[in-house]
Amino acid sequence: MQIRKIQLANFKNYEELTLSFSEGVNGIVGENGSGKTNLLDAIHYLCLSKSAFNVVDSQNIRHEANFFLVQGIFEKEEKEYEIHCSLQEGKTKTLKVDKKAYPKISEHIGRFPCVLMTPYDTDLIREGSEVRRKFFDNTLSQIDQIYLADLLKYNKLLEQRNSLLKQFAERNYVDKTLIETYNAQLLPLAKNIFEKRTAFVHSFIPILENYYFFICNEREKITLSYLSDLQTENFESLFENQLSKDILLHRTTKGIHKDDYNFQISGYSINKFGSQGQQKSYVIALKLAQFELLSQLKNVKPILLLDDIFDRLDDMRIKKLMELMSSGKFGQVFITDARPERTAGLFKEINQEISLFDIRPPR
Ligand SMILES: Nc1ncnc2c1ncn2[C@@H]1O[C@H](COP(=O)(O)OP(=O)(O)O)[C@@H](O)[C@H]1O
Ligand SMILES: [Mg+2]
Repeated sequence: MQIRKIQLANFKNYEELTLSFSEGVNGIVGENGSGKTNLLDAIHYLCLSKSAFNVVDSQNIRHEANFFLVQGIFEKEEKEYEIHCSLQEGKTKTLKVDKKAYPKISEHIGRFPCVLMTPYDTDLIREGSEVRRKFFDNTLSQIDQIYLADLLKYNKLLEQRNSLLKQFAERNYVDKTLIETYNAQLLPLAKNIFEKRTAFVHSFIPILENYYFFICNEREKITLSYLSDLQTENFESLFENQLSKDILLHRTTKGIHKDDYNFQISGYSINKFGSQGQQKSYVIALKLAQFELLSQLKNVKPILLLDDIFDRLDDMRIKKLMELMSSGKFGQVFITDARPERTAGLFKEINQEISLFDIRPPR
């Protein structure tokens, strides 16, 4: 799978831009602030219908403009697709493939898979559980449309249940029948999501472990475990038992929205006990495992977006990534770098051709 051409209008710092890409490695170079990351984000938009960095769509409109447009020509399994994503201020986002809009934008997710490595990846280790849930949900959603639909339904019902709890607290009154209707709708969704997360982690772990080993040739054992209330609580009464606590706190205190993923090294939390190097290797392994599983299950190589990896990684880790790149593991790759000579040099070393795009700084 590849993106052949992209066209931007009023997207972040770009007033207008049209580029045609190579199907192999594309190096995006230019000084800091010139829009390298923004260009990767535009590709991310076309693949996953949203920014990887800014969840508020309207903030991706160029300052002083009132709309953005991102368009791309993609090729997948020898067929061509034109993807169009636009947002007019104050309106809802439009996403079209070959000029046809989706009834629900979420239906687009997974058709054009992509994997992004960014300097923010270590947030996966350092930040709270939401970041980790997002990563696994993002991956599972690209694999399984029903998973995504269930998750969206669950989140919507959860929001409604939470505002109901708030009302109960404010009015000092509890409508048990009403809350039970929410519980009854949430439970089967929670069960499906839990089962899919469990199964996913099961296939993810061995791939993750292998990649970690590959990246650092280390003997230490890393692993990952999935933690959910559904493993320890009585499933049928999960929401019921918590009701008084939920009312007190105005929110649903147990459920799959509280799930977490525990990253470990030699049996200890990598957040607390892993060195910086080990943490970096761990997040690269996470992303590579994501790439691998998506490739296997979707039968297509996701577009790989590598943002500023050369700045963050030491020579050994870069060498390992380059090894994978020259082995033909990846399909189309985008790499940003503020130092074009470095990018060009590295690719000469591994005997891979790279198309360099110099992104001019904005006027
Ligand atoms: N909505 C926006 N409108 C105009 N400029 C923006 C918008 N969002 C981000 N930018 C600008 O984009 C630039 C950063 O681009 P970025 O892609 O992160 O650069 P880099 O080449 O360093 O990766 C900054 O100058 C930032 O102010
Ligand atoms: Mg950048």
